[in-house]
Amino acid sequence: MSKKLKVGIIGCGGIANGKHMPALKKIPEIEMVAFCDIIEEKAVKAAKDFGTEDAKAYKDYKDLISDKSIDLVHVCTPNRSHSFITVDALNSGKHVMCEKPMAKTYADAKLMYDTAIKTGKKLTIGYQNRQAPENLYVKAVCENGELGDIYYANSYAIRRRAVPTWGVFLNEYEQGGGPLIDIGTHALDLTLWMMNNYEPKMVVGNTFKKLGNQKNSANAWGDWDPKEFTVEDSAFGYIVMENGAVISLQTSWALNIADTPEAKFIICGDKGGADTLNGVRVNYIKNSRQVIETPNLKDGGVAFFEGKGGGSPADVEARRWINSILEDIEPCVTPYQALTVTRILEAIYTSAKTGKPVYFED
Ligand SMILES: NC(=O)c1ccc[n+]([C@@H]2O[C@H](COP(=O)([O-])OP(=O)(O)OC[C@H]3O[C@@H](n4cnc5c(N)ncnc54)[C@H](O)[C@@H]3O)[C@@H](O)[C@H]2O)c1
Repeated sequence: MSKKLKVGIIGCGGIANGKHMPALKKIPEIEMVAFCDIIEEKAVKAAKDFGTEDAKAYKDYKDLISDKSIDLVHVCTPNRSHSFITVDALNSGKHVMCEKPMAKTYADAKLMYDTAIKTGKKLTIGYQNRQAPENLYVKAVCENGELGDIYYANSYAIRRRAVPTWGVFLNEYEQGGGPLIDIGTHALDLTLWMMNNYEPKMVVGNTFKKLGNQKNSANAWGDWDPKEFTVEDSAFGYIVMENGAVISLQTSWALNIADTPEAKFIICGDKGGADTLNGVRVNYIKNSRQVIETPNLKDGGVAFFEGKGGGSPADVEARRWINSILEDIEPCVTPYQALTVTRILEAIYTSAKTGKPVYFED
């Protein structure tokens, strides 16, 4: 086998340990040679758990990216630093997988997008939900034209009481927002991908902090401190696309609601519709009857991508990303797609602040 790709991990917290490093470890064509975290012990531990024998541990990401032998980095830090770390890494000649959301703001994300184009290096964002079997199935249905022109969608990222209380998720400065930017980003990415529509025209929405101020939260990850809760707890947006299609985006970490669809959607086209609320259901009319198709996605042996087999969304995401570098093809999540998601999310926040719709100029 030719030389292995050398990978550096920047930010060795929850998502790096839970998704990136275990998934990368299964890929024979790479080796993890460097780890960075502002809390040095975390980098040292990751190096021991996932790295090569001589793997390096750094406190400052600039030291990691100055190593010319490193081919690519995974940026797994809080949202605030996605942009500047990614831009510096691209400029140092690395390919970059950055965690979602692309960045805190559209301007930050645009800088990442522009730098990827300028340097010719690959950039992708960690929207692993695309690789779940139900989403790959609906994507194939959409691509086959079975739904026709998709003109209406509901996009869900709803939790009843599951506020992430670790790390800096409640901190507006570090994260740029609450559930909208944190989990709404996944739901919107999935919906736009299904619709294959990246041309927003207008957005209106509102954000709420109703339950974040309360105590006795019955929260999945333990009580939050209302004083530290500086982001919204719910956000709802209505997005109109250039071609007239509309999307209702509903996001919450804490809402008084019984059903909690997260990273789920309903899409309606002029030939058929689909949703992922309870497995996959594809609906259409056949022989003058209303038909609902429910594919069996549990049977093994279905190679959903490039003939290389299935796996968890995290494993498939990592495999496809590394393939895009080895084969010099476009990553599954392109920078433009992720940029559009961030642009729409920012517009919902702007609409909430100003009380007005946001119209996109170009
Ligand atoms: N794809 C998903 O489904 C998913 C799930 C969870 C989190 N995330 C994303 O991953 C990112 C990190 O989330 P997390 O849950 O791992 O948080 P975390 O707090 O567990 O980990 C973040 C780590 O980054 C380190 N860090 C902070 N600033 C740094 C810097 N400048 N340089 C190096 N290290 C730095 C922190 O010390 C911490 O160890 C966030 O952007 C989040 O949105 C994605």
